[in-house]
Amino acid sequence: MNEWRLDASEAAAFGRVAVIMGGRSAEREISLRSGAEVLRGLQAAGVDAFAVDLAADGRDPVAQLLQADFDRAFLILHGRGGEDGTIQGLLEMMHKPYTGSGVCASALGMDKLRCKLLWQGAGLPTPAFAVLDEGADLGAVEARLGYPIMVKPAHEGSSIGMSKVRTRAELEAAFAQATAYDSSVIAEQWVDGPEFTVAVLGHETLPVIRLETPHDFYDFTAKYEAADTAYHFRTALSPEQTESLQQLVQQAFKIAGCHGWGRVDVMMDANGQFQLLEVNTAPGMTDHSLVPMAAREAGISFSQLVVEILRTTGERE
Ligand SMILES: Nc1ncnc2c1ncn2[C@@H]1O[C@H](COP(=O)(O)OP(=O)(O)O)[C@@H](O)[C@H]1O
Ligand SMILES: [Mg+2]
Repeated sequence: MNEWRLDASEAAAFGRVAVIMGGRSAEREISLRSGAEVLRGLQAAGVDAFAVDLAADGRDPVAQLLQADFDRAFLILHGRGGEDGTIQGLLEMMHKPYTGSGVCASALGMDKLRCKLLWQGAGLPTPAFAVLDEGADLGAVEARLGYPIMVKPAHEGSSIGMSKVRTRAELEAAFAQATAYDSSVIAEQWVDGPEFTVAVLGHETLPVIRLETPHDFYDFTAKYEAADTAYHFRTALSPEQTESLQQLVQQAFKIAGCHGWGRVDVMMDANGQFQLLEVNTAPGMTDHSLVPMAAREAGISFSQLVVEILRTTGERE
């Protein structure tokens, strides 16, 4: 199916590529699915790639990496312990080039609270929010944000531990639920949408995708299981709105210090203003994932996409 291949000398120049997947996070299974696709795509392009299933069978990930024989890494770990700067730091110490963002931007991408603070500080729009902790004055939170409110663990992905709440009782229950995943929890002002996601590849943005789900929001089921989630390239945005969305995404990416590739989730509020939700520094790469979908729309095959990502290895600002 995929006939695109790299020139043999170019493929050889990448050396041996470890596709690092799995890990211990709540998103391990998704990472394994993404990793299998990335491996297949690189091999189909002629790259000498092999899989490293990090923390498989309780193995020590540090020992695994130190023992592996590779020249560069394609990082496709999702969530904590992989997408959050820790593996990036280890690879820096090992002098091994790797795909995607560096230590600081990866850590920020995994911390919704601090990333929002950074964007706010830079004057970029992101929904109003409050930190929920043991001493939080929930009355003040609901008065300031107004219902509905989105409650989310600050460091999770895949919509894990998130709830839309409409009452104080629901707010308390959602806070308790999110706390089970993370000690840092935020309450965010609800944004009605529509919702968009924009992939970044190198210095370019890929075509904007508008997401539509009959669920309350793009939750875990809508992301990975439901057949009723719709992905539109006909976004209903004007060319000017598309341009300003793409510029916002580029700014958000740059201010967080991201590199190589990623995906920024954005919603439009009732005033037509775009609001930044989060940046994903190692987004999903399964056959149903958004980045490959956007690449396809731009005429970039999966193999070309993974090779383009591999080309952005190293050389961070
Ligand atoms: N403030 C919000 N208002 C409305 N929906 C939201 C809000 N924040 C998140 N969502 C919904 O929840 C989904 C997941 O949120 P997001 O912040 O992207 O976290 P995750 O890391 O889990 O993808 C979004 O794709 C969107 O559908
Ligand atoms: Mg998201």
